[in-house]
Amino acid sequence: MTVRAADLIEAKRNGREHSAAEVTDLILAYARDEVPDYQMAAWCMAVFFRGLSGAETFALTDAMIRSGETLDLGAALGRRVVDKHSTGGVGDKTSLAVGPIVAACGVPFGKMSGRGLGHTGGTLDKLESIPGFRVELTTEQFIAQVRETGLAIIGQSADLVPADKKLYALRDVTATVDIVPLIASSIMSKKLAAGADAIVLDVKVGEGAFMKSRDDAVILAEQMLDLGRRAGREVVCLLTDMSQPLGRAVGNALEVREAVETIRGEGPGDFTELVLDACARLLALSDLGIDVDEGRRRAEAAVTDGSALAAYERWIRAQGGDPSLEALPVAPLVHEVRAPEAGIVSRLDALAVGIAALELGAGRRTKADSIDHAVGIVCRAKRGTGVAAGDVLAEIHAADEASARVAEQATLAAYEIGDTPPRRLDILLDVIG
Ligand code: URA
Repeated sequence: MTVRAADLIEAKRNGREHSAAEVTDLILAYARDEVPDYQMAAWCMAVFFRGLSGAETFALTDAMIRSGETLDLGAALGRRVVDKHSTGGVGDKTSLAVGPIVAACGVPFGKMSGRGLGHTGGTLDKLESIPGFRVELTTEQFIAQVRETGLAIIGQSADLVPADKKLYALRDVTATVDIVPLIASSIMSKKLAAGADAIVLDVKVGEGAFMKSRDDAVILAEQMLDLGRRAGREVVCLLTDMSQPLGRAVGNALEVREAVETIRGEGPGDFTELVLDACARLLALSDLGIDVDEGRRRAEAAVTDGSALAAYERWIRAQGGDPSLEALPVAPLVHEVRAPEAGIVSRLDALAVGIAALELGAGRRTKADSIDHAVGIVCRAKRGTGVAAGDVLAEIHAADEASARVAEQATLAAYEIGDTPPRRLDILLDVIG
């Protein structure tokens, strides 16, 4: 069938529900370059105003998967495969710590990750701060490494869900990223195409996330759960706080360092809690036949007995990298941001810190920008920390004086210091599914 994109845009603009066949035709034609960007952008904007039904969102997800190849990692390994995904945040290095812990517990962890854009960091960029680390493996190398090492994290293959790649780039420049059914289908299409049997989704909530409010995050979580159910996969959604950066470090090599400290049992409290919780749920969904409590015990034991650190080192070497912390790049300058007054940190704006790190060179504004892996911000004081005037709030790791000064001001502005302790906000806000 030849798609009449203008008819579908008009139908959606007027609030009509598409048939599954119409959605499939539109997406596959777009992937074949038979529908131009301007029509697809108009359709996405109509979706912003009119939404998609559950059936339309599933048809969209299915069509995205059908635009490319799929991978059956479970069949290749002869094991049930678990995967995790975060909707994106500031200082989110969770996969770097979760992968080795889960692998140390005997569950294979093969993950395809993305790059950061805007103020949110990407796992691949963090991994590339490790000298020698290769994120591009062939599918055969990927499977072989998961089989032999128990762990691999690589870049998304160009053949997997190409429609999402194209559509995401278009959405990024047409103000159509933060549309719940489009986010849900984008994330789930990649997870389903990569062959995960069970998926733990970390849905971030707060200023530093796509979903600013808990209500919106619940809607996104429920749509992803629904897509999982329709595809016959098990999905658990964690709603986690992204009103302040996760852990302390924001910036690629700084985050790798913090992830390794966490694998050694020396990480910050909020990040450690999220990592152990995600590991417990992944282990409970795996073929080990254990519940979440036992998963938590095993994850903690892998940290305590050093087997998670050994798994990390094996993994990094297998992908050509040097796992020693001394090998990571270090910024030439470190400036300290000091508290102007005594009090309690009542707010630490994740978005502001993410943008300050981006301006230092830790992230990219467009896909073509390059990254300085050494730079970033370490938030020494987080929400609820009591400080005296002159205490260090944060460290700015910068390439030069000028960028350090700009980041210093921006980071200071991200802090609010008050007289009373802020409302306690746990890292894990809710579990759905
Ligand atoms: N992450 C994705 O992979 N896709 C989106 O649309 C948003 C976040």
